[in-house]
Amino acid sequence: MKIIEIEGAKELTGTIRVSGAKNATVALIPAAILTDEEATICNVPEITDTEALCDILRLLNVNVNRSTESVVINPTDMVNTEITEPYSKKLRASYYFMGALLGKYKKAVMYFPGGCSIGARPIDLHLKGFEALGAKVTSDKNKYIVEAEELKGANIYLDIASVGATINIMLAAVKAKGTTVIDNAAKEPEIVNVATFLNNMGAKITGAGTSTIKIQGVEHLHKCFHEVIPDRIEAGTYVIIGALCGKNLRVDNMIPEHLDSLISKLEEIGVKLEVGADYVEVLEHERNYKTTNIKTAVYPGFPTDLQQPFTVLLTQCNGKSKVTETIWENRFMHIPYLKDLGADIEVKNQTATVLGPTELKGCQVVATDLRAGAAMVAAGLLASGTTTITNVEHILRGYEDIIEKLSDVGAKITLKEI
Ligand code: EPZ
Repeated sequence: MKIIEIEGAKELTGTIRVSGAKNATVALIPAAILTDEEATICNVPEITDTEALCDILRLLNVNVNRSTESVVINPTDMVNTEITEPYSKKLRASYYFMGALLGKYKKAVMYFPGGCSIGARPIDLHLKGFEALGAKVTSDKNKYIVEAEELKGANIYLDIASVGATINIMLAAVKAKGTTVIDNAAKEPEIVNVATFLNNMGAKITGAGTSTIKIQGVEHLHKCFHEVIPDRIEAGTYVIIGALCGKNLRVDNMIPEHLDSLISKLEEIGVKLEVGADYVEVLEHERNYKTTNIKTAVYPGFPTDLQQPFTVLLTQCNGKSKVTETIWENRFMHIPYLKDLGADIEVKNQTATVLGPTELKGCQVVATDLRAGAAMVAAGLLASGTTTITNVEHILRGYEDIIEKLSDVGAKITLKEI
């Protein structure tokens, strides 16, 4: 079993370089099978989620050449076999193979995806989108067969601006006959990154980043070279850590505009920041923070993926703050552990009320999911004494070199096998 041990209350100074975005990479790797030639993706983070997707590629007999930062994917000898449960349930994003295989072969057979237990996480909107394009969906327990004689462009309105459904429908529609329009599409930067990748291969997608995406089907997709955008959630996590215990802590190689909502909340509570073209630095300042309320929302609203780490910061604000989670129904699993560390938090329905400031003291906690794990790391870095985090596999799924990055700026943090 792996654990993370943190000796907290150390001041963090220096520069942390942000890696490629997990939530873009996990869509780009399945999307790459749509090329008829070869795709090179660089700035790919070395995290277990990307490794799990490369394993699925190998299962499909796709040639995968992984070097330090890039992956070269060549699907010319690919075979469209069933993606069995042990492969699909390793992560959520295995579901992007549904759209990509459907788009390429007009048939996908795979099991329900896995991922963090942060809510019910249905895929009905993905399936409805495939059906609108002409596919037939049959399911037996956890197994899904999605197939079509022909895929035809359609007008699809998403009831919820779902990131996964938007990307999956784009993947299925990219080679369909005619034009597909996705209305109420999600606008996250990761969607723009995936659309750019597909366009680099010859797809005709316009409007990505707005709520209407238009996809004109093409017959072939060619060779391409593509770079993953910086991970806005990783960047935001480190900026929040900087606000908790940083002194001139710079988070570099990021796109600050992707974090406008976080940056304005940090400034509102009194965190002194320098925002550059590709970095945010938490400057030296007195930590005397005002309270605030946050409500998670689709992009460009406050990201649900930063809600959990941000809650840690609210434990250090003077008075009562509120966190309302609107995207996932089960994303407060970090709260009991924050309370064990000394936080004063009450949860009622989808709102957590945080009373601060409270002193945090190290103890044993659990990373119940990826961003809950990030919250535990942030809290452990602030707390006095030793914090031990279990279930750290969740953290390693999404944060490249987290131990090294934090150690380099002065944290006493170790990953141990016990
Ligand atoms: C993506 O999940 C991210 N995952 C999540 O990041 C992130 O929290 C989420 O978007 C919201 O920003 C990946 O990109 C791999 P959704 P996704 O479809 O695509 C409901 C992290 O920590 N819904 O936008 O699965 C759904 O239940 C992770 O990195 C349906 O009802 O999220 C949720 O309430 C966790 N039916 C809402 O929509 C559907 O068919 C938004 O989900 C699809 C979604």
